[in-house]
Amino acid sequence: MAFDISRRWVLTGAVGASVACATACTTSGTAAAEAAFPADAPSAEPELLGPRGGVALLSRNENPYGPAPSALKMIEYAGKKGAYYPDIAGKKLAAMIAERHGVTPDMIAITTGSGEALCAIALIYGQKGPIVAPRLFWDTTALYAVNLGMAEIDRVPLAADMSIDLSAMEAKVTSETGLVQLCNPNNPTGMVLDPETLKAAVKRMSATTTVLVDEAYMELANDPDANTCIGLVKEGHNVIVSRTFSKIYGMAGIRVGYTISSPETAAKIQSTSMSWISGVGLAAAIGSYNDTAFLDFSKGKIVEAREMILATTGVLGLESLPSQTNFVYFKSGKEANAVQQAMKEKGVYIRGQYMDYNEWTRVSMGKIEDVERFCKALPEVVSA
Ligand SMILES: Cc1ncc(COP(=O)(O)O)c(C=O)c1O
Repeated sequence: MAFDISRRWVLTGAVGASVACATACTTSGTAAAEAAFPADAPSAEPELLGPRGGVALLSRNENPYGPAPSALKMIEYAGKKGAYYPDIAGKKLAAMIAERHGVTPDMIAITTGSGEALCAIALIYGQKGPIVAPRLFWDTTALYAVNLGMAEIDRVPLAADMSIDLSAMEAKVTSETGLVQLCNPNNPTGMVLDPETLKAAVKRMSATTTVLVDEAYMELANDPDANTCIGLVKEGHNVIVSRTFSKIYGMAGIRVGYTISSPETAAKIQSTSMSWISGVGLAAAIGSYNDTAFLDFSKGKIVEAREMILATTGVLGLESLPSQTNFVYFKSGKEANAVQQAMKEKGVYIRGQYMDYNEWTRVSMGKIEDVERFCKALPEVVSA
């Protein structure tokens, strides 16, 4: 089929093709389209994307209440404009983000999920020296650079309460350090750092090296404005903050994220990113960025689900960490991978073991009915 198409193109050339197109578009467009595309082309199936039927997907920190209707409307519009490379949409989204945070648009780098920006940052700074990071954090993107032989991670043990040990991290930072990477609230612990202690430590560390604060879950925190490090970027410190549309905006599959930094750093991140963000993603982000009704609704559902989970672990006497995110990290007292497997057999998908924290398990918030299934299954699984 591919051979046929290319051979026909070579034989008829652009003129022939445009004549064929003009004919199709005027008189018999539908018939021509039907002839050109196979009748058995894949169509949307309920399980093509998203969880399989019967599965309570509580393993990936998504917001299944999204995307917002305001995003869906723009996705439909963007689909119809899908023939065109996006142009001004990126500038429009950057302007909206900049306005919200009181920065200039050239301080925003927009990427395909925040993961892409974080990979770019790991590549840029990892080559300079070690990435100093807490022992437990969302390390996927730093590992991307490690796997390419372009970075190494210097992991700093957590404090006794499993929070990030900022003083221990600070003690590691030298002029040889490539990057300090923090995640606030942290994943998988869900904990936020004390804002004043954090900002003072970041300020000091950023005098020596670049500090990245991954704020993927910040909109879910009790007081995002008090906890964010965006203020430090605005004051001119060598700090990068990353955010995403994958979490509270419920757009993990649509892939939009961004960073806020100095204009020079933003340009470096943008030029190191490997893809061009899709028009569908940009449009969806523009549509829902200021949709406070949807954001409040989502946060309400997440808090409701979190309270259900904490009530369940509390009744079972299991230790859990104080989460300000859409996931809870708790100590089941059993092998995390065995708990994950037992839950899976009940159709409830949660995370397995992180590093050597073998009795700790992470469960994400999801649809309330799915969280109910987790709460019902947990007592059976931990008492087995
Ligand atoms: C802390 C943290 N940062 C970044 C990401 C990447 O998200 P995305 O690439 O979808 O923006 C994740 C994904 O789970 C995450 O947990």
